[in-house]
Amino acid sequence: MRIGLAYNQRPDLIGESSPPRLRHPAEPTAPDAYVEWDDPETIASVEDALRLFGDVIRLEAVGDFPSRLRAARVDLLFNMAEGRSGPNREAQVPAIAEFLGIPCTASDSLTLALTLHKGRAKEILAFRGIPTAPFVIIASDTEVESLDRLPYPVFLKPVWEGSSKGVSAASYAETPAAARERARQLLTTYAEPVLAEAFLPGEEFTVAILGNGADAACLPLIRYRFDVLPDGALPIMGYEAKWVWDTDERLTNILECPASVTADVARRIEDTALAAYHALGCRDWARVDVRLDADGVPNILELNPLPGIIPDPAQHSCFPAAAAAAGISHPELIQSVVRIAWKRLTGRELAAPTLAGAAA
Ligand SMILES: Nc1ncnc2c1ncn2[C@@H]1O[C@H](COP(=O)(O)OP(=O)(O)OP(=O)(O)O)[C@@H](O)[C@H]1O
Ligand SMILES: [Mg+2]
Repeated sequence: MRIGLAYNQRPDLIGESSPPRLRHPAEPTAPDAYVEWDDPETIASVEDALRLFGDVIRLEAVGDFPSRLRAARVDLLFNMAEGRSGPNREAQVPAIAEFLGIPCTASDSLTLALTLHKGRAKEILAFRGIPTAPFVIIASDTEVESLDRLPYPVFLKPVWEGSSKGVSAASYAETPAAARERARQLLTTYAEPVLAEAFLPGEEFTVAILGNGADAACLPLIRYRFDVLPDGALPIMGYEAKWVWDTDERLTNILECPASVTADVARRIEDTALAAYHALGCRDWARVDVRLDADGVPNILELNPLPGIIPDPAQHSCFPAAAAAAGISHPELIQSVVRIAWKRLTGRELAAPTLAGAAA
């Protein structure tokens, strides 16, 4: 078995000769531009886990990736590549794999594009009757008047970013005037539309889901403990909570897993997250962010079909934390995704330690 590993490694953490190769005139230069890309340790841990199944071929998703992927002649591509930039970046690798006829783990390009654009995802959820906060999308300065239609307070974020880029206390606006100002700032900084939605005042959970069809199931729920944030901080998982304050000792326990909620609340959160997973056509695995509204109803914030998988527990990566609570180690999690994908692709269980039997 030959298994490809498609990834993007943060340029600030790789050898000095590498960044110029990654640069592209259209790529952003903001300091948080590459925060979604993976660090070398995460990529190496996935590579090690994949070795259970045979030869692993590293395929950095930059430059001549399409020709390297074709030349690698892999039986399966494990995709953890976040892509270059723009609204289709997460869809690029699965689209290339599909074009080349190479089976790939995780969601397809349609789902990855739809979920990256939080507004498109919310339109689908709303159409399907899955709760999500009322929202507007502002594509330019001339559209800020639509902010008047929302119930206040509101929350504003760039429409196709992740890892809390552009999400901070400044995202919270109590008046249309404040919301307009923030929308203009975000339009200038990120050069992409802004999503403004009603601020959900309740508790927040994230739901790690593994599987396909009727087999899709939730790992133990994670609740964010906003009480450990610095005094006076807005109760959100913003950029500071994820990347600045995360080394603060007080944040050690920010992930509560399993979440201390009643069985009824847990079931409603899981049902909503699974409904969203299926509505957006997610495959193999995804993490769904959920927050309660003023009435305690679970609302979908967004879906992450390429979930963060930093192996070091000190970094509070949610999917590995939920897996650990279920007794699943980091390598076992990665191997589970391969098995789930293999079953989806072939209809058969994957015979470990090699795929030779299953592929025959
Ligand atoms: N409508 C809202 N009401 C309250 N809080 C919100 C709202 N939207 C976002 N947030 C807060 O901001 C955080 C980041 O938002 P969101 O999950 O949409 O961004 P992201 O950058 O895609 O996150 P991820 O790191 O999961 O990719 C949420 O976890 C939540 O704490
Ligand atoms: Mg999120």
